Amino acid sequence: MNDKKKKILCGALLVLLGAGAELAPMAMADGGEGKKIYEAHCLSCHGVQGNGKGAEAGHLSPPPPDFTDPAFWDNRTHSFLFHVIQNGLGPMPGWSETLSPASIEDVLSYIRSFRR
Ligand code: HEC
Repeated sequence: MNDKKKKILCGALLVLLGAGAELAPMAMADGGEGKKIYEAHCLSCHGVQGNGKGAEAGHLSPPPPDFTDPAFWDNRTHSFLFHVIQNGLGPMPGWSETLSPASIEDVLSYIRSFRR
C-alpha cells in the first residue's frame, strides 16, 4: 500500500470513529437507569409488568396501553413515543420538565424491554 492510500484509509477510519461517538448516547441508552425512572414515575399507571395494569390505571380513559404487545411497538415510531413521553397524551402528563432527553431515552429503552 502506498502512502497516499494509507492516508485515505486513516481518514476514513477517523470519520467512522467520529460517527460512532456521535451515535453512542442513543445506542447506549441505559436500561438500568430507565428502570429506576419507570419505577418512580410510570409504574403507578403502566404497571410492574408494563401491561397497563398499574394501581392508578382503573380510572383512566383511555387506559394505558399494553407495552408487552408486539403490535403496540410495530405501530409506533421511536420519535413518536419520545414525543408522547415528553408532552403527554390524553390522561398521561408530559415529562419534559421532570426528565432530560437522555432520561427519556433511558426509560423508553426500558419499556421496550417489556415487549414479548
Ligand atoms: C397518570 C398515569 C400515567 C403515568 C404516571 C404515566 N403514563 Fe404513560 N400513559 C398513560 C395513559 C392513560 C396512556 C394512554 C393515553 C392515550 O392513549 O390517550 C399512556 C400512554 C403512554 C405511552 C403510549 C402512547 C401511545 O402511543 O399510545 C407511552 C410510551 C407512555 N405512556 C410512557 C410513559 C412513561 C415512560 C411514563 C413515565 C415517565 C408514563 N407513561 C407515565 C398514563 C400514564
